[in-house]
Amino acid sequence: MSIHTAKIEKKVTVTTIRKMKSAEPITMITAYDALFARLFDGSVEMILVGDSLNMSFSGKPDTLSANMEMMLYHTKAVCNGAKLPLIVFDMPFGSYTTKERALKNATRVYRETDAQAVKIEGGKERAKIIQTLTDNSIAVVGHIGLMPQFVRSEGGYKVKGKDEANISALVEDAKAIEAAGAFALVVEGVKSEAAKAVTEAVSIPTIGIGAGVHTDGQVLVWSDMFGFFEAFKPKFVKEYLPGAKLIREALGKYVHEVKTRQFPDDEHTY
Ligand code: KIV
Repeated sequence: MSIHTAKIEKKVTVTTIRKMKSAEPITMITAYDALFARLFDGSVEMILVGDSLNMSFSGKPDTLSANMEMMLYHTKAVCNGAKLPLIVFDMPFGSYTTKERALKNATRVYRETDAQAVKIEGGKERAKIIQTLTDNSIAVVGHIGLMPQFVRSEGGYKVKGKDEANISALVEDAKAIEAAGAFALVVEGVKSEAAKAVTEAVSIPTIGIGAGVHTDGQVLVWSDMFGFFEAFKPKFVKEYLPGAKLIREALGKYVHEVKTRQFPDDEHTY
């Protein structure tokens, strides 16, 4: 297996990400704490403190009960751990229902954490909210396609961009989000040709998840790609590490050594 060894040495900014469009694929990963953020520091351009933490870390069935307090707590931890990536705060469900509410909550993100941007799910209907934030100097990442915060209202996680009409709607959404001042766009769970059409239609970088190879970058949830989240595994998740298996094996060894008094041995005793 070949491994990318080039390290990122300078703080990644909104300008860095904008310039990467069509030049070099952008790498983004989620992180929820300082420990893992530190491991990812210097390797990826962007870290998303995703509301997916509500599922993987809080054990909830979906992201909808994530709230501002928990997202702020985890974002502060990630900012403590990672210094170089551009850190994005995922605005939780219900935190941006009006322009006023969105501005109040996004202002808290800038005041209380070092995150450089916020992410908002939704298409052209959210353009006014995004515009309000960008008018107030808050950097925004859009998020279209399969939007986890719509799981209940849409009756499940539905792959988008399956026909011409839906591809056109996605392109229209992407253009409205770009016009509102977003500097990047997450495109999730769409057919590859739809992600290609969206990527070609806008001048801001697109970051795909389950959207094929034609986007300007990729994002994965760390606990999925490292094999820790076992509740379900979407088709687009590539497992780069059998994390849960490794932990169980190591834990089993620890339990065995404690039970048989092999641990602690002389080396680990004062
Ligand atoms: O919350 C999250 O992790 C996300 C990614 C799936 C893009 O929004």
